[in-house]
Amino acid sequence: MTDIAVAPGRLPLLGHAWYLRRQPLPWLRSLYDRGDLVKVYLGPRPGFLPVAPELLHDVLVTKNAAFVKGPFYDKLEPLIGRSLGLLAGEEHGIRRRLVQPAFHINIVTRYFDVVRDETERMTARWRPGDRLALDDEITALMLAVSAKSLFSADVENEAVRVVQRTLPLVMEGFFRRAWAATSIPEKLPTRRNRAFDAAIRDLRRALYDLIVAYRGSGDRGDVLSMLVSARDSSSGQGMTDLQVRDEVIGLLTAACEDIGTTLAWSFCTLAERPVEQDRLRAELDDVLAGRRIEFPDVDRLAYLQRFLNEVLRLRPPWLTTRHTRDSVVLGGHTIPPDTTVLVSPYLQHHNPRVFPDPESFRTDRWLPEHAGALPRGAYVPFGTGAHVCPGRHFSMLVARTVVAVVLSRWTVALQPGARVGEKVAVSIHPTSLPVVVAPR
Ligand code: HEM
Repeated sequence: MTDIAVAPGRLPLLGHAWYLRRQPLPWLRSLYDRGDLVKVYLGPRPGFLPVAPELLHDVLVTKNAAFVKGPFYDKLEPLIGRSLGLLAGEEHGIRRRLVQPAFHINIVTRYFDVVRDETERMTARWRPGDRLALDDEITALMLAVSAKSLFSADVENEAVRVVQRTLPLVMEGFFRRAWAATSIPEKLPTRRNRAFDAAIRDLRRALYDLIVAYRGSGDRGDVLSMLVSARDSSSGQGMTDLQVRDEVIGLLTAACEDIGTTLAWSFCTLAERPVEQDRLRAELDDVLAGRRIEFPDVDRLAYLQRFLNEVLRLRPPWLTTRHTRDSVVLGGHTIPPDTTVLVSPYLQHHNPRVFPDPESFRTDRWLPEHAGALPRGAYVPFGTGAHVCPGRHFSMLVARTVVAVVLSRWTVALQPGARVGEKVAVSIHPTSLPVVVAPR
């Protein structure tokens, strides 16, 4: 058996932490020729990163039982407690059965009206020729949509205001902590750390108060009502208020951060490629013939789905973790217990052996004859296996609806001279999104 190659750029003591913080994407893309599995040092200890799609599939599906979630998720615990994203094994299965029904494909259709109406409200404020920071517009839209679908609140609600104020601070703080080589800096009483701790405290308190108010107030047809009344079918047990609070924070951060970045990249792609706007508009004209979009139309927008698949291929979540509780064999190599395994959808999606010319935006990759031939583990924007994202149907519904509503009425172009880069945090964000909008 061959040795496992060490990823390039290892520094004394820090290991690869510097690259993970400073240049993670080029660094990940430099790994394809190093073998199916590479060794990565997070500080002094080695971890492993599957490069071959089949090995990632082993980690997430076939050998999932050998893993807990690992250091990336442990860093999230002060925010989302021991909620779904952090659990593994039996405990995870029980919680997943309580949370998942709120995101069943038949349930998420209820949220369509919220998404369409909020998007129309956003575009109703636009004037021809407006110069907009579209990333900020999307952040505000995602907050409004999440607040209404998760807990039937609008943006004037006190809890929503607290979320609005604290979420950016919290997400930025997590990125700094997630891939640091040591946890010493986060324990120091610096201004930044104190602001981060206060933001988490305020967010948790505001949502806890909201949940207490919800108990006994009947079904409001939103996610929070479902979580508050969910019962395990065998034990009859539900979640405590604190557990519901942690789940809601996890869902809220995922909805704002993950759908928000997918939408920001979608509009960035559209602003840079007028031809994609033309294609999508042709499909919208064909399906809607000038009507307002209704829920059954969403599934008929096949080109839009291919477009979003490609957006999510290029900018998926870039890194999460697993941690072995038992030893596990990957690609013929034995990984010892208590070892971190890195999971990178980004690395898989940019693999030139699987996606030829990986940096170019090509929707034809998603024609059924190509998409159906992808190896397992090669395209995993929502993960796969027991931990596959429960919010994936909701996310696709939101993304398709928002893009459809905007493009039905508006064209979007980058402001003259603007160049958009990539800023890597918990997700990959556009550095900014300065656009000019015009009625079509
Ligand atoms: C485009 C948007 C989204 C993307 C790309 C995305 C991606 C992912 C990925 C890759 C995972 C698996 C992580 C792993 O295996 O380590 C995941 C898990 C999860 N996602 Fe999403 N997500 C999105 C939206 C959402 C939304 C809207 C929600 C909820 C409102 C959500 C809630 C969750 C939860 C709770 C988990 C943990 C599931 C478990 O461990 O059982 N996500 N997501």
